[in-house]
Amino acid sequence: MKPFIVVADGMDKHTFKSLQAITEFEVHPSPKVTQEELLTLLPRTSALVIRSASKVTAESLEISPNLKYVIRAGEGTDNIDKVACGKKGVKVSNTPGANSNSVAELAISLMINVLRKTAWAHATMVAGKWEKNKYEGNELSYKSIGFIGFGKIAQLTAKRLSGFDPDVLYYDTFPVKTDLPYARQARDLEQIFSECDIITMHIPKTKETSNLVDKRLLSLMKKEAILINTARGGLVNEDDLCTFLKEGKIRGAGIDVFAIEPLPEGSKLSTLENVVLTPHLGASTGEAQIRVGEMAVHQLKEFFIKNQLLNEVKA
Ligand SMILES: NC(=O)c1ccc[n+]([C@@H]2O[C@H](COP(=O)([O-])OP(=O)(O)OC[C@H]3O[C@@H](n4cnc5c(N)ncnc54)[C@H](O)[C@@H]3O)[C@@H](O)[C@H]2O)c1
Repeated sequence: MKPFIVVADGMDKHTFKSLQAITEFEVHPSPKVTQEELLTLLPRTSALVIRSASKVTAESLEISPNLKYVIRAGEGTDNIDKVACGKKGVKVSNTPGANSNSVAELAISLMINVLRKTAWAHATMVAGKWEKNKYEGNELSYKSIGFIGFGKIAQLTAKRLSGFDPDVLYYDTFPVKTDLPYARQARDLEQIFSECDIITMHIPKTKETSNLVDKRLLSLMKKEAILINTARGGLVNEDDLCTFLKEGKIRGAGIDVFAIEPLPEGSKLSTLENVVLTPHLGASTGEAQIRVGEMAVHQLKEFFIKNQLLNEVKA
């Protein structure tokens, strides 16, 4: 019997066609299924390709006796219960690096957006106003930029920022190799939070990093500093961030990822004037989706046809 492949959260359409053309596979005809549909497909699914919308839980594994392989078409695997997968012998992979450039560019766009207040100025223009004096901003050039985590996305962001002559400080718990002449390792997290004009998050969400940025670290930030989070919701304590933004203790924030997604209606974050919010758009570019999809299809072929497991993510 051919492996039955389900792509649950969408895939670039040409890449999906190329997957359907692989004669060794039976592919569910739609590249996007609702969570209800997914529950009906799981009992016969051999491999599941997901982005951030679908979750693989101990409960969903219970109804997936044929599941052998889950691919997270993207980076973060916190929507997959990897311990439960391990117990059931289900292998997990991601597609590392495929969307890094898109996230790096979003991080930079949020920095500029917050510094130049573009989104807020736009909102007033749409409302028929011309508030030129209210929206004086600041430049990105020559700023000190602190990176929390200095892995693939952070280093690419720092590299793309080179034209702005930045002063880069980074903090990472693992030894980092970088050839960027303007990047310096920080002594500790506290140094980054107290010295940098822009602090940008690029670490995974784990038990250790949950709520890492709370009032203690926020209170070290300069009044004119801004915080960017394109990594994962839950790294920054949203209640504490809202308090600091509301009281003007920091200048602003650009946030792409949230503790609960979609962001609940009426969230305090959406009521603030000095925050730019995007709905988890980091990897949402045509270019990233082509790279991510092609990598996922390649990994499916390697796994089922050549018995090779690429880019495994363990618990
Ligand atoms: N917004 C989006 O759509 C989007 C898309 C892709 C990735 N991401 C997220 O971006 C983040 C970074 O991804 P990446 O590809 O650069 O990952 P990466 O693994 O290349 O880099 C992560 C770095 O964080 C470091 N790190 C881990 N725990 C740390 C800690 N407690 N303190 C300091 N450093 C720590 C690691 O040593 C590593 O160098 C991840 O959270 C990922 O889920 C978001």
